[in-house]
Amino acid sequence: MSQANGHDDRTLPPSSAEEASGAFEPLETTRIPPPPHQPGAPDAHTLELVEAALARLDLEARVRLLTGSGFWRTAAEPAIELREMVLCDGPAGVRGERFDEREPSASLPCPTALAASWDESLVERLGALLAIEARRKQVDVVLGPTVNLQRSPYAGRHFECYSEEPLLSGRVGAALVRGIQAGGVAATVKHYTANDSETERYSVDVRMSERALHEVHLAPFEEIVRAGGVWALMAAYNSVDGVTMTESPLLETPLRTEWGFDGLVVSDWFATRSTEGAGRAELDLAMPGPGPDQPWGAALVAAVRAGLVPAEAIERKVRRLLLLAARVGALGALVPPAPPRPAPDAAALLREAAAAGMVLLHDTGTALPLTPDTLRRVAVLGPNAEVARIQGGGSATVIPPYAISPLAGLRAALGPDVEVTHAVGARIRHRLPAVTGADVHDPKTGEPGLRVRFIGPDGELLHEELRGGGRLLWLDDPIVARAVAIEAVGVLRARIDGPHRIGVAGVGRFRLLADGVPLVDDDLVTEDPLGGILTPPERWAVLDLAADREVELHLRHDFAAERPGTGFVLGVDRPVAHEDAELDHAVALAAQAEVAVVVVGSTEESDSEGRDRSHLSLPGRQDELIRRVAAVNSNTVVVVNSGSPVLLPWRADVAAILVSWFPGQEFGAALADVLLGHREPGGRLPMTWPAHEDDPAVLSTTPVAGRLDYAEGIHIGYRGWLRAGVTPAYPFGHGLGWTTWEHLWVETVASGADFVARVRIRNTGPRPGRHLVQAYLSRADGMVERPVLWLAGHTWASAPAGAEVTVELTIPARAFGHWSAESGRRETEPGGYTLRIGGSSAELPLTAKLEVGPGLRP
Ligand code: BGC
Repeated sequence: MSQANGHDDRTLPPSSAEEASGAFEPLETTRIPPPPHQPGAPDAHTLELVEAALARLDLEARVRLLTGSGFWRTAAEPAIELREMVLCDGPAGVRGERFDEREPSASLPCPTALAASWDESLVERLGALLAIEARRKQVDVVLGPTVNLQRSPYAGRHFECYSEEPLLSGRVGAALVRGIQAGGVAATVKHYTANDSETERYSVDVRMSERALHEVHLAPFEEIVRAGGVWALMAAYNSVDGVTMTESPLLETPLRTEWGFDGLVVSDWFATRSTEGAGRAELDLAMPGPGPDQPWGAALVAAVRAGLVPAEAIERKVRRLLLLAARVGALGALVPPAPPRPAPDAAALLREAAAAGMVLLHDTGTALPLTPDTLRRVAVLGPNAEVARIQGGGSATVIPPYAISPLAGLRAALGPDVEVTHAVGARIRHRLPAVTGADVHDPKTGEPGLRVRFIGPDGELLHEELRGGGRLLWLDDPIVARAVAIEAVGVLRARIDGPHRIGVAGVGRFRLLADGVPLVDDDLVTEDPLGGILTPPERWAVLDLAADREVELHLRHDFAAERPGTGFVLGVDRPVAHEDAELDHAVALAAQAEVAVVVVGSTEESDSEGRDRSHLSLPGRQDELIRRVAAVNSNTVVVVNSGSPVLLPWRADVAAILVSWFPGQEFGAALADVLLGHREPGGRLPMTWPAHEDDPAVLSTTPVAGRLDYAEGIHIGYRGWLRAGVTPAYPFGHGLGWTTWEHLWVETVASGADFVARVRIRNTGPRPGRHLVQAYLSRADGMVERPVLWLAGHTWASAPAGAEVTVELTIPARAFGHWSAESGRRETEPGGYTLRIGGSSAELPLTAKLEVGPGLRP
C-alpha cells in the first residue's frame, strides 16, 4: 500500500503463534490521516471513535462484520455500539427493505432522464429527496448512482446509466451523491467498472486498452470520488482483464491510492467469489448474507490464521465499514447531518424533473405547443398512453404511491372543453400486470385485495393477512422462514367481456385455480440467481369471462423450508380488441381529431436489468400505428416512452417527436406541462440516437468466448459516430425548445490553469426560453490519438424573446489531458486546441483557438 492513503506507517502485530492457537487478542491500530482528495473527509473525532471501536474487536468479530446479516443488512456489534446498517436500491427511488404496496417509494425519472436535463443543481435536489426517502424507510446506504457508460443502445440497463459521455456521467452522478449525502445517507457509486451491458453479466471478461479504461470508463467514478466525495462504491459482477471486479487490483489503484477513496467497497449481490482472493483485495463487504452463498465468515478467519490473507487487509476493511457507520449515524452516538428542512414538495419536484429531462427531437412547429382554447378534440393513442412505463426493470424499480399516465395528465390539462379520445392502437406484449384491489376482493370479507396465508410444515396456518395487490415479495421474512407454502386467494370480477390472460410469475412450484379449475400447475425455474426478483418466468392461461362475472382465484406456491424469502406476481391481463380492429379504431380516432398524440414505447422485455435488447425497433406494430396515424392527421405528435434509443423510421412524416424516457410517477402531469408549453422540453440527448440497426457505431454487447472486446477504445458514443463519418438519426447533445437561438460570438481568457469561454447568444424566437450552450474540444495536428471531438463544458442560458445574453463556461485544464499508457498517468500535450461552441455535437458554429503551454497538470 503506498504512502498516499497513509496506511504504511501503522504498527501492526505480526501474525503470531497466539493467533494460530486461536487466542486472538484485539489488534492495536494507529490512526490514519484523512485521505488526500476526498471532500467531506471525516474529522479527527470521528476517526478516533472508529479507531477505538476497531481496537476492541478481535479477528472473529471483525470478520463477522464483513458479510451481510441479511439480504439488505450489515451485522451489528453491540460491544462497540454498532447497529445494523440497511443498504437498499437504488438510483431512481429508494426501495426500502419492504418493497411492496404497503410502503411505496417516490419514483424519480430514470437516470438517463436526469442526465438529459444536464442540470446538476436539479439533480442535487433530487438527491436530497432520495435522502429524505431513505431516512423515512430507515435506509442508511442508497445503492446508486449507476455510472456505467451507455456504450451501446442494446444494453439492458441503459436507462439506469446516465450517458455515453464520461464527463456528463461523472458530473450528474456527483451531483446526486452530494444531494444524498448532505442528508446523512450514504450513496454507492456502481458498478465499478465496465459493467456496461448485461449479456453474460456475471462472468463476462471485458478487455480494453489501458487508455480507454482510465480515460473513459474509470473517469465518471473518479469524478464521483473526488468531487462527489462518495462514501461507498459497488464492485461489479464482471471481470476486467481477466480478473473479477471483486478481486480487481483497480480497487486499490487508482481507487484508493490515487483518488483517495476512503469509503466502503461493497460487492454486487452474490459477486464475492472467493475467500482468499477477495479477502486480500480491497473489497470490504460481501453482500448479501449470511449463508452458504458467501465465501467469507469462518473460512476467512481460517485464511487469516493460516497466513493466506493478511490481518491488515481485514483491519482495513473493518475500518472502512466503521467509518461508513460513523458517517450514517450507525456507530455510537454520532449523529449524521439531517436532510433539508422544509422537505421539498416531492410531487412538484418530480414533475419539474420529468419535464426537465424530456427531449424534443423534432418539431415542424405546426402541432405544438397544444392550445386548449383552439382545440376541440385530441386523440391520445398508443400502447403506453394509459399504461405507461414510468421506470425501467430490475433493481432500479420501486413501487410508487401512484403513477399519472399520459392519458390522465393530458385529460386533466386540456380541461373539460377538449374531448380526449383514446385507443391502444398497437398491442404490445407487456408482462402480466399484477392484480390490484380494484380487480380482486377477499372472498371472506369482500374487502378489496387478496387474502394471503402462510402455511407451516404440518399444514398449519402460521399467519394470514390482506394485501392490496398481487405483487408480493418477502426477503429476510421471519414468517416465510418458518413456512413451506404461501396461498393467495381473491375473487376476480371481470369488467368487460372477453379472453382474460390470468397467471403467475415467480420461481418455484405454483398451482393456480380459477373456481377450482387449474390454470397453472408448474415448477418455474430460472438460471439467474436473482432472476426470481428481476424478471421471473411467467405462466398463464386464457379464460373467457363475461363482464361482471366473478371467479375465485386460488394460488398456492410451495417452496423449500427454511427459506427466508420468496415472491411472485399474480396477474391478470384484460381483453383487448383484435389487433387489426384496434389499429383501425385508433386511426379512425386520429382522423377525427385535430391533434393525435401517440405514446409508444418499450416493454419489460427490453430496458431491464438481466438481459440486453435483441433489436432497436419499437416492439409490435407501433411503427405501423404511427405511419397510419400520420397519414390521416398532419398534427401527429409521437411521445417515445423508452429508456434507450429506438429506431424512428417515420421520423420525417410526423409533426413532432418528444422522448419522455421513463419519467417516474409524475409522467402524465409533466408531459402535459411540456406539450401545452407551460414548461420547456428541458432535455438534450445524453447519447447518440442511431438511424439504423446496422449503423457502424452501434456496438455489440455479445461476448465472444466469454470476452467482450471494447475495440472502439476511447471512441465511445458520438466520438465513434464522428470517427466513422456516419450521420445518426439525432446527435449527442441535440434537443429543441419552444424558441430558437443564434450563437453570436465566443471569447476566451485563461483563468489559472483553466480557460473561461464567454459566449454571446440571442433568442431569435417568439418566446422566452432556455438554451444549453455546449463546448467541445478538438485537436487535429497533435501526436496523441484523439477523438474527433470531446465534451469540455456546458451551461444553461435563459433569455426573453429577442434578447441577447452572455454566459461563461469553464474549460478545465483537465479537459486537455489524456491518459498515457507509457507514464501510467494523465498528461497534457502542449499546443493548439480548437474550442467549438454550439447547441449539439453536430451543430457547433463558434470556434476559438486555445494555446496550452507545457507543464499544464491535467
Ligand atoms: C444489481 C445491483 C443492485 C443489487 C441489489 C444486483 O443484481 O446489479 O445494481 O444494487 O442487485 O439489488
